[in-house]
Amino acid sequence: MNRLFLLNVLFCIAYEIPAQRIVQPRLSVTAQLGEPVTLECSVVSTRQIIQAWFKQVIGQPPMRILKDDGQAEHTFYEFGNKSRFQIEKNESSFNLRILKMESSDMAVYYCAALRGSHVLFGNGTALLFKGKLKG
Ligand SMILES: *[C@@H]1O[C@H](CO)[C@@H](O)[C@H](O)[C@H]1NC(C)=O
Ligand SMILES: *[C@@H]1O[C@H](CO)[C@@H](O)[C@H](O)[C@H]1NC(C)=O
Ligand SMILES: *[C@@H]1O[C@H](CO)[C@@H](O)[C@H](O)[C@H]1NC(C)=O
Repeated sequence: MNRLFLLNVLFCIAYEIPAQRIVQPRLSVTAQLGEPVTLECSVVSTRQIIQAWFKQVIGQPPMRILKDDGQAEHTFYEFGNKSRFQIEKNESSFNLRILKMESSDMAVYYCAALRGSHVLFGNGTALLFKGKLKG
């Protein structure tokens, strides 16, 4: 084993899930308060990976909302009101659905793939709301 071989191996590990494979097709989505909204993401990978959604409010660090280990019903919710979030997933999609949009949901949402110590993010989708704030 020489150094070049090791570098090559490291390169392959790092690029196993190319970032462009995490596709968030919309840069922004606008929804009405109180209405459901779906944030789309597709992750194409031949290997089993952990998929996750992060939420970032401007001026705050990103928070992981949930992660999914790829098993049938294994979504672990970590942040926020669980009963308002749902995952719609199949072999190619990993969509985050917010059942009832609230003004505090306004943020940028990142779809991510985790493998070992690597975290790869999609380009993010900004969730905006239309209409007046209540009260
Ligand atoms: C992410 O954004 C960059 C810059 O706009 C674009 O070139 C790239 O295609 C986007 N990636 C995906 C997966 O949509
Ligand atoms: C969580 O959201 C559900 C549905 O919108 C709501 O009925 C419930 O009161 C919320 N719980 C908390 C702790 O905010
Ligand atoms: C996966 O779900 C997405 C969104 O619900 C849908 O558009 C797509 O056709 C589905 N793909 C498969 C392979 O079922």
